[in-house]
Amino acid sequence: MSELKKLPRHVAIIMDGNGRWAKAHALAVAQGHRRGTETLRAIIRESSDIGIEALSLYAFSTENWKRSAAEVNALMSLLLEYFTGEIDELDENNVRIRILGDKDGLPGPQRDALIAAERRTAENTGLKLNIAINYGARDEILRAAKALARRAKDGTLDPDSLTAADFENELYTRGLPDVDLLIRTSGEMRLSNFLLYQCAYAEMTFPTVLWPDFSLDDYHAALRAFGARDRRFGGRNG
Ligand code: IPE
Ligand code: IPE
Ligand code: MG
Repeated sequence: MSELKKLPRHVAIIMDGNGRWAKAHALAVAQGHRRGTETLRAIIRESSDIGIEALSLYAFSTENWKRSAAEVNALMSLLLEYFTGEIDELDENNVRIRILGDKDGLPGPQRDALIAAERRTAENTGLKLNIAINYGARDEILRAAKALARRAKDGTLDPDSLTAADFENELYTRGLPDVDLLIRTSGEMRLSNFLLYQCAYAEMTFPTVLWPDFSLDDYHAALRAFGARDRRFGGRNG
């Protein structure tokens, strides 16, 4: 990727289209999700290789519990399989894993595997890999508001001196830079409750390719598109 002059520090991806991919191949939806994890593996490796600082992937939303028990179970099994199968390689590649979302709402084995992955990689200094599981931005913002309200109530925080940094410290993404580039595959053009606060000035791309078919070429195209954008943040460039 030597032609990439201006890399985003923080890339967020809404990995969408597994269901449509499965349908198009006359396969069960779980097979679509399984194929999706292969894309995930390739994109994580590439992000690490080209020196992306932070990569945030939307794997399961607070709204995805609405799906059938069979699909939710398949996703949860895949999650466990992924984390137990990949953790050695991720750790060897110096990847630091953080889970965005409410781990307490997950089944015990999944919760334990995620906590173990976070602990094991906590001192790693390479790619900051954030996986959003049981994540919803509204839930995240509400939790932050509650945490700050509690501190105001017990007298450890003065509401009048509350700063944006204080608020950001209560988000799952504390310490990470804002999202620079958001990619959503499958052609849908919405955020679906992903990183609403952190995407305030994100550049967005919506490739129509379904997530299981999202290739390194597609990823590079999104990164190149980012490099060509004129980011103004409300000001003027030249
Ligand atoms: C995204 O693929 C993965 C998850 C939401 C877990 P979908 O399952 O939403 O795929 P489509 O949108 O039905 O094609
Ligand atoms: C967003 O995709 C969630 C993930 C990719 C994990 P959805 O497929 O759940 O979103 P909607 O329902 O199309 O908005
Ligand atoms: Mg979808």
